[in-house]
Amino acid sequence: MKQCSLPHGGILINRLVSPEKRLPQKGSRKVITVDRWTLSDIDCIAIGAFSPLTGFLEEADYESVVESMRLQNGTVWSIPVTLAVDERTVRDVGIGDEVLLAGEDGTVYAVLTVNSKYKPDKRREALHVFRTNDLEHPGVKKLFEKPDLYIGGPIDVLKRPIPALFADTYYTPAETREAFKEKGWKTVVGFQTRNPVHRAHEYIQKTALEIVDGLFLNPLMGETKADDVPAVVRMESYQVLLERYYPRDRVFLASFPAAMRYAGPREAVFHALVRKNYGCTHFIVGRDHAGVGDYYGTYDAQHIFSEFLPGELGIQLLFFEHSFYCKACQGMATGKTCPHDSKQHVKLSGTKVRELLRNGVMPPAEFSRPEVAKVLIRGMAEKNGLKA
Ligand code: ADX
Repeated sequence: MKQCSLPHGGILINRLVSPEKRLPQKGSRKVITVDRWTLSDIDCIAIGAFSPLTGFLEEADYESVVESMRLQNGTVWSIPVTLAVDERTVRDVGIGDEVLLAGEDGTVYAVLTVNSKYKPDKRREALHVFRTNDLEHPGVKKLFEKPDLYIGGPIDVLKRPIPALFADTYYTPAETREAFKEKGWKTVVGFQTRNPVHRAHEYIQKTALEIVDGLFLNPLMGETKADDVPAVVRMESYQVLLERYYPRDRVFLASFPAAMRYAGPREAVFHALVRKNYGCTHFIVGRDHAGVGDYYGTYDAQHIFSEFLPGELGIQLLFFEHSFYCKACQGMATGKTCPHDSKQHVKLSGTKVRELLRNGVMPPAEFSRPEVAKVLIRGMAEKNGLKA
């Protein structure tokens, strides 16, 4: 079997440049302050996690991605990665101009060459990407909160905008590819999560580990909705879990810097392509991947993959049914392996689990490893300024 998939589009993009080379060229350039979400996109573009993107989408690619999940050249790409700005801010910026992208603390992270300035049809974007334009949907809400003009073009990144805490878990795809090679892993399964790893996640990861060489546990560390468990709390829970319950030499834990879109099916495609860039040969898609509320059917994020030709994505999908602990089986199972009544199944909604953790109550051990639950209860209490 081949070692590692090729990056999406064939070449691993690297937009990191040395600041000395890039900054002094042209005198004063406009500084645009961007939010944390955009900084995480800048990072993903810089390191090639979003290969083949070299910057923020220009109008023709944007239209094509929204409409048909492809860049103009036909390469599959399902999520528009765009830079929204106030019209006033870029009134004096022309096509071909360079602007500096800075964080809220004033640090300049990137130089953008503005090749395109355009007004998106956000309603259309929402309906295509999120399959709804309901403002209650967190992705749609975010889309409409952003300014109404997009600027696109390639970026050169002077410095990775990553948080100091857990900075050692922020690898580049070039580094993870090298690490997989060193470990001798020919097949690697990627796992996306925005949640703590519960028993159901563990079950599908370990089922996959029965057939591949390594697990790339790649929790999303960018912006999530306010009621999701904060990334810093989650990271500690992953470390505790891996220490106690996983074979050390078969798992690689790395942060995925991106923000969560909650775009369900389209985001599942995007998540798979990004993990291909990190060097994964396989990717797990379980129940309601990247979903929120009742906007998507339980397996819509699996069905969407049938819209592409075999081989077009260059990564093998591993689909899993809804997993749970069954008291009668005395083990983890799915509808495919368990014959018992659903009364025997331990299933908790995300809302219920968050409520338990907030109140300092341990969820059942069949749902979450106690070591993980303890970290989460402590972390949530600290977040809320309480003593655990
Ligand atoms: S996500 O928004 O990042 O997809 P989550 O962290 O809950 O949310 O899920 C991570 C992965 O595990 C996704 O592929 C999801 O489909 C899968 N998953 C989560 N819970 C279950 C479950 N009980 N059974 C099967 N797959 C699951």
